[in-house]
Amino acid sequence: MNIIGIVEQIVKKCCEGNEPGHDFNHVLRVRDLALEISKSVECDQVLVTLLALFHDINDHKLPNKASLKDVLETAHIVSPLKEKILYIVPFLSFSKYPTLPDDFPIEGKIVSDADRLDALGAVGIARAFSYGGSQNRSFEETLKHFDEKLLILDQYLYLDISKEMAKERMDFLREFYNRFKKESSLKKPH
Ligand code: ADP
Ligand code: NI
Repeated sequence: MNIIGIVEQIVKKCCEGNEPGHDFNHVLRVRDLALEISKSVECDQVLVTLLALFHDINDHKLPNKASLKDVLETAHIVSPLKEKILYIVPFLSFSKYPTLPDDFPIEGKIVSDADRLDALGAVGIARAFSYGGSQNRSFEETLKHFDEKLLILDQYLYLDISKEMAKERMDFLREFYNRFKKESSLKKPH
């Protein structure tokens, strides 16, 4: 098996037990979106693929506590690729770094955009309610996450093609949000 195939198997294992919003399919969607975005610019596609596969290792929200460093070692990823991944991945968190450093590597910007795109559209809605549910949050509480993050997320994309890809997903998100508010407005008790 080639290195990418080996990494896929390792990451799949790390994703076991994650709620559906952060399962291995999320990782695969981010990889596919990142590769789609990467066609529009000059970049290292192997690095893009590896960053996408590793991007949620070490996320504090997730049950798997394996360190990225250890996982990279298990996968036999060596210098200089290893250092690049260890530098870039911690920045791939909207809550910690809504904006990335100006000189951030293009491969990191691509995967950041891909991860954010997967938080939008129909899939993004499903993911938000899955994550909210996993934290025992009400629908109304999860809807606050739309106000705080999802409905402004298109302003935090880097590449033009990502902004283009986000348009339909943002429209759908807004439509869903408005419809939900309309259907769920509770009558005050007498
Ligand atoms: P971050 O980059 O801030 O660590 P993630 O990108 O890992 O966050 O979040 C990914 C998914 O988790 C998104 O689809 C997002 O909607 C969902 N999510 C994160 N925080 C919340 C929340 N408070 N309520 C509902 N969904 C959330
Ligand atoms: Ni992610």
